[in-house]
Amino acid sequence: MNNSPITSLTTPGLLTDKVAFITGAGRGIGAAAARLFAREGARVLLAARTEAQLKAVTEEIRTADGTADYVVCDLTDPASVRAAVNRSVELYGRLDVAFNNGATGQPPGPMDQLSEADFDHVCAVNLKDPWLAMTAEIAAIRATAKHGAIVNTSSVGSLMGTPPTACVRCGEAGRQQPHRVGSRHLRPGGIRVNAIAPGTTLTELLTTAAEPP
Ligand SMILES: NC(=O)c1ccc[n+]([C@@H]2O[C@H](COP(=O)([O-])OP(=O)(O)OC[C@H]3O[C@@H](n4cnc5c(N)ncnc54)[C@H](OP(=O)(O)O)[C@@H]3O)[C@@H](O)[C@H]2O)c1
Repeated sequence: MNNSPITSLTTPGLLTDKVAFITGAGRGIGAAAARLFAREGARVLLAARTEAQLKAVTEEIRTADGTADYVVCDLTDPASVRAAVNRSVELYGRLDVAFNNGATGQPPGPMDQLSEADFDHVCAVNLKDPWLAMTAEIAAIRATAKHGAIVNTSSVGSLMGTPPTACVRCGEAGRQQPHRVGSRHLRPGGIRVNAIAPGTTLTELLTTAAEPP
């Protein structure tokens, strides 16, 4: 991925004084978001399972005078997800922004060849986690910052059929629902919910997948 600054497209300091929690932040899109949010003034908390990757991105942000920390978190484990979200408040005293971006792929192949275990794993990470994380994030935002924003990563691939990764596509489509429902129910309470649908982005997820999203 190209990690070069894109400050010409943003207002410097857009996230000054904000605290942002980002899942899937050890590499790829989540790591790029963590760098950008920090560059815009946010104090960021990075979450994923691979500590070495989290540490590397955190140190990179600190070297650039940003404020960052990380928490090791497994998105399939509800207690781990809640603890990670709450760590934002423990560390920084508040939560303003949550980017639910972490996701997994699936072994490519026809949907009838996918094992039940793989189906359950993809659903746990890509479908159940955003709901789990959002429940904890809404509580943390309401208890601290009062107003905030939640962004869930979906995919342009969810809008079309790509048979070798059908289960992943179902999860991505499902990740748009909290946006549709949440934006109506949470916005009056001061929490904005959006979904983004990236196109092809050269990350590990893509290079290990059967075909582009
Ligand atoms: N790349 C694309 O072309 C593309 C296109 C459309 C949408 N997207 C979406 O963009 C998001 C980011 O994808 P990416 O391309 O940046 O992928 P990536 O480089 O593979 O990064 C995925 C991140 O999710 C984390 N993750 C995976 N399983 C996890 C688990 N069980 N618990 C905690 N963290 C977990 C990974 O860390 P660990 O493995 O260390 O836990 C990693 O930090 C995903 O939601 C993906 O669906 C990507």
